[in-house]
Amino acid sequence: MIQKTLVVLKPDSVGRSIVGEIISRFERVGLHLVSMKMLRPDKDFLYHHYETLGTMITRHGQHVFDITLKMMMTWPVVAMIWEGVGSVEIVRKMVGATEPKSAAPGTIRGDFAHMSYGYSDSIEMGLPNLVHASGSIEEAAAEIKHWFKEDEMFEHQSLHQKYTR
Ligand code: RTP
Ligand code: MG
Repeated sequence: MIQKTLVVLKPDSVGRSIVGEIISRFERVGLHLVSMKMLRPDKDFLYHHYETLGTMITRHGQHVFDITLKMMMTWPVVAMIWEGVGSVEIVRKMVGATEPKSAAPGTIRGDFAHMSYGYSDSIEMGLPNLVHASGSIEEAAAEIKHWFKEDEMFEHQSLHQKYTR
């Protein structure tokens, strides 16, 4: 089934200037870019993303929420919608495990980062794991609605789709 999924390149991706490297990975597997923008989300916006939709405080506690929000506000982020067959699962596979230390080589977090929960927690820093990607089809729908307006989404055929249909 063709799906849309939300990807947010977190401040560490922007700060390290590897936005292009990461985007090219999604393009390389044939996923289709439907929308993209740079923004600086504020606290309320991130509360909705991480707690209202993601129940982060319930699952990880107030401290993890606070350091994650601080990290997410240090630099702008780049939000994107990627479309493709089973794109929610494909993108999660490409992004890799949440903790970069444990993420497999070949994944974005495994190839571009190495930080552990233990170290980032010890210096009270949000885990620099480069990317957020929706975890389920339902989560993708809710997150896309939160991050993008209807008129910011560009339904168009890629050349790949044009020549294969
Ligand atoms: P992700 O999508 O980022 O792979 O993570 P997830 O949904 O599988 O896991 P979730 O628990 O929702 O984590 C979302 C983000 O919260 C921050 N986090 N930090 N320091 C910590 O113990 C900790 N735990 C979670 C990370 O930014 C993670 O990506
Ligand atoms: Mg998540």
